[in-house]
Amino acid sequence: GRPKNHIIFLILNIAYIMSKKEQNHKLRSASGRPYTNHENSKSAGRRGPLLLEDYILHEKLAHFNRERIPERVVHAKGSGAFGTFTVTQDVSKYSRAKFLNQIGKETKVFLRFSTVGGEKGSADSERDPRGFAVKFYTEDGNFDMVGNNTPVFFIKDPKKFPDFIHTQKRDPKTNLKSPTMMWDFWSLNPESLHQVLILFSDRGTPYGYRHMNGYGSHTFSMVNADNERVWVKFHFKTLQGIKNMTGAEADQMRAKDMDFSQRDLVEAIESGNFPKWRFMIQTMTDEQAQALPFNPFDLSKVWSHKDFPLQEVGILELNQIPRNYFATVEQSAFAPAHIVDGIGYSPDKMLQGRLLSYPDAHRYRLGANYEQIPVNRCPFAVKNYQRDGLMRVDGNGEEGPNYYPNSFDDIYEDASYTEPAEEIKDPVADFFDRNEGPGENDHFSQPAALFNEVMNDYDRHNLVANIVGAMQGIAGPKRETIINRQLCHFFRVDPKLGAAVAQGLEVDVEAVMASLKHE
Ligand code: NDP
Ligand code: HEM
Repeated sequence: GRPKNHIIFLILNIAYIMSKKEQNHKLRSASGRPYTNHENSKSAGRRGPLLLEDYILHEKLAHFNRERIPERVVHAKGSGAFGTFTVTQDVSKYSRAKFLNQIGKETKVFLRFSTVGGEKGSADSERDPRGFAVKFYTEDGNFDMVGNNTPVFFIKDPKKFPDFIHTQKRDPKTNLKSPTMMWDFWSLNPESLHQVLILFSDRGTPYGYRHMNGYGSHTFSMVNADNERVWVKFHFKTLQGIKNMTGAEADQMRAKDMDFSQRDLVEAIESGNFPKWRFMIQTMTDEQAQALPFNPFDLSKVWSHKDFPLQEVGILELNQIPRNYFATVEQSAFAPAHIVDGIGYSPDKMLQGRLLSYPDAHRYRLGANYEQIPVNRCPFAVKNYQRDGLMRVDGNGEEGPNYYPNSFDDIYEDASYTEPAEEIKDPVADFFDRNEGPGENDHFSQPAALFNEVMNDYDRHNLVANIVGAMQGIAGPKRETIINRQLCHFFRVDPKLGAAVAQGLEVDVEAVMASLKHE
């Protein structure tokens, strides 16, 4: 009798699995009701009208109407891929971060590249900084490095960010991009000059996303096992080599393939040609920071490689295109606030502003529980006392207590994660001249080093051509004022730069100087 029972049991089991499988293949409404007809609406008579009771029609149209979520207010157009970060060097003297604590250790990452100013459907080859946002799914929580392909930025106080971005978006009346707004803002904010020179070099139009560097840009910190802090800059150096488009090539690419960067990334990864970056850091002690002639927390400046050499940490490789773009790339949410033990913030005002801004943007764009979306989830279940809210899908703490302290659960705080204290001796004040003051108002030396020492004649030629091409678009009654104001900044970088741009714009510099003297 036993083998016979066994066979019957087996047959029943197979039949059960088959029926389940059939169930799973049925087309159903979201609540599970099988569809009888996916393509024809229920009508009164063959020729209609339709019935209100065709709930399935209703659900199909209603869900479709809700397919779009708000696009990111900046960095709306983007591409993403999963990959692996592998530690290659021992940096334990700087950081106790667990994902860095062993040569050969691998951590899963998700990287989203983007352009900044355009809408979600805009062209990939626009002249624009490129976003370079990496989420490390570490064993100690998620670490987001939300950087750009430039080591500096246009402004150094977060209060200027919405104004700056408005100038990169569309004119309120014409709904057109406006060189007048852009150059008006830049000329009134000379701290933008460094980033403007990078943006108008050919690095402003990189050849897709694989051939550019990524930079954390801000000064961050690292803390080691002895609770010692160093200041740090993050660099991701492309191992594909730097490759850019000229202004003319970028214009052609925009017309030929709006989605070139997306296509280039997908095709490379799908064909097994995995792009890689060398993750490197620069470090600075607090003593070195005090002695620096400029503010080391100023986002418009870099730290010289000669004084603060690059040190390798590991290799980042992208090796998997997500299986669904919306679920992953569109719903991904990065935040500079997301750090792990061993990595910390710094007093950089822009970074401080961004710590608040990003999670706020995510709560608006994706909802209060955005960290529960699979792409944003940390690799282990998170326990805390946050409860409820729209789209809570992780069990909401189940039946456990929803307050702290309590006598029932075993969740505890871990004081071993405490960061070393930071000393602040300065007065609390509104510093109105925030771009001035000791070590703050040199907006010209580093752009000059870039122009004279880093660029070659070919780079300088393209830089001037790109600037002239863009400034020719300045229009309206303030055209001359804006051009002259910006020319002054270029002259202060280097008279050759000022003269070349003036010549390209057919500005008579001598006449301008004479009129200034007259005033
Ligand atoms: P280095 O000669 O050691 O480094 C120059 C850096 O400039 C290289 O990292 C290079 O990147 C990068 N670079 C080359 N062309 C451009 C461009 N058109 N736009 C932006 N970056 C470019 O010099 P220093 O460290 O002494 O810095 C000199 C100047 O170089 C700085 O004032 C700054 O303008 C620029 N720079 C400095 C960086 C830094 O972190 N120190 C980072 C990027 C730029 P790569 O090696 O990948 O080709
Ligand atoms: C995206 C704000 C400066 C890199 C965003 C978003 C906001 C924002 C609101 C959209 C977030 C979302 O909806 O998901 C700010 C503010 C800044 C600032 C207030 C200055 C105070 C910077 C700087 C960098 C940067 C300096 C780079 C060094 C990025 C990147 C994204 C982004 C890469 C896209 C992230 C992604 O791929 O989802 N920023 N930003 N931003 N920002 Fe900033």
